Amino acid sequence: DKTGSAQIGVVGMAVMGSNLARNFASKGFKTAIFNRTYAKTEDVLAAHPEAGFVASESVEEFVDSLEKPRRIIMMVKAGPATDATIDALLPHLDQGDIIVDGGNTYFPDTRRREKKLSELGFNFIGCGISGGETGALLGPSMMPGGPKDSYAHIGPILEKVAAQYDGEPCCTWIGPDGAGHFVKMVHNGIEYADMQFIGEAYDLLKGAGLSATEAADVFAQWNTGDLDSYLIEITSEVLRQVDARTGKPLVDVVVDAAGMKGTGTWTVMESLNLGVPAAAIAEAVFARAASSSPELRAAAQAALQGPDGTINTDDRDAFVADVRQALWCAKVIAYAQGLHLIKVAGQQYGWDIDVAACARIWRAGCIIRAKLLDRISNEYAAGNLETLLEAPSISAELANCNDAWRRVVAKASEAGVPIPGFSSALSYYDLVRAKRTNAALTQGLRDFFGSHTYRRVDTDGTFHTQWSGDR
Ligand code: ATR
Repeated sequence: DKTGSAQIGVVGMAVMGSNLARNFASKGFKTAIFNRTYAKTEDVLAAHPEAGFVASESVEEFVDSLEKPRRIIMMVKAGPATDATIDALLPHLDQGDIIVDGGNTYFPDTRRREKKLSELGFNFIGCGISGGETGALLGPSMMPGGPKDSYAHIGPILEKVAAQYDGEPCCTWIGPDGAGHFVKMVHNGIEYADMQFIGEAYDLLKGAGLSATEAADVFAQWNTGDLDSYLIEITSEVLRQVDARTGKPLVDVVVDAAGMKGTGTWTVMESLNLGVPAAAIAEAVFARAASSSPELRAAAQAALQGPDGTINTDDRDAFVADVRQALWCAKVIAYAQGLHLIKVAGQQYGWDIDVAACARIWRAGCIIRAKLLDRISNEYAAGNLETLLEAPSISAELANCNDAWRRVVAKASEAGVPIPGFSSALSYYDLVRAKRTNAALTQGLRDFFGSHTYRRVDTDGTFHTQWSGDR
């Protein structure tokens, strides 16, 4: 009799779900599995007898096989499938049971579901999971949000299967209701920006005459220093890959139209909603959109003149070194924007998120894992930062790299290399450090045409001016 025999249950036996279930089993947890279509469960059972899964054909049997209070992780396609799965489970659950949604769910959906389920007496946790298929199997970064007291019952299990960084689990309670999925969303927004910057750096290296293989060597070398990160590491491997059919670098035969599934767009939508400037992340989303707009690109290619992207340098190595510094600076700006968004959202939604902890659990397991994150989490832990950019070690390094960053942006502009990410990041740097911004003129214009009033630097109150005699 398998009743109450499993410590944890996983619903959804596609790649992420089955790998996560295998991860639980490999850490010694008796794991129950279920899939809407039983054939998938049978495939998983057959392929992984070592896992000792407790499999069920019906939801009822699956729920029955779990010890109480039950812990169930849903790994189904985000959206209607999540609601359908919850609806299928609910009639069989008892008060106090815990349901975790490990999908890539849009956080307002998590807030809605958490509210409904808590009213019914269940614990609902929205858990962002990053690390792809390998992460799910070997240790992802996990961002659970929901009722804090239920974390005591599920957290220790999640922390066991999460990635470990220096013995610390890359999993911690993020905050109430949608906080975990929100943080995962911003993680993905930062990932978009990171990848866009890497693409821009590659374009610049190409412009300076480096072949794909030479660029691969450069990225491999960068990966041994400050830029040490998963994405830089795999960039080197992607650039080194040769196409079997043509003998060319594979990257040269891949269609230059980037796909996306929505998390980057959500991040930008949320930054707009909350009024948090995150233009470097937005540029990354727009760059993907532009790449996938064939009609726009064809029309512009036919009509527009400009330099061809060749970068003339008398010292190629010095230029490559500049690009490395520009890439580091841009990356820091994207992290600063994303973490600022998390901080403001935490205040707005009543989540009280520990930003240092977010950076800490991104140090391993997830796609944006990077050496820099250790420093970032330490800086946030050391002081209550309004922005990452004010952290002493960060502002000092940005100052060190400033000239290189500006040289790269200037050279790219002259040469016609598109660098929306690098230049937007630099403009953000200059915008937020400016003693006065052009918003004073904007206020004058708004008052001129709409009597929107303005404030003065030298006295309190709001003012309106009759700007010209005949409006
Ligand atoms: P894949 O990752 O293979 O593309 P998917 O379509 O994203 O698969 O679905 C992932 C999981 O969500 C699967 O377990 C799937 O169940 P089936 O194997 O029965 O298709 C589950 N899923 C998708 N839509 C669902 C729905 N409407 N209700 C319940 N589960 C659903």
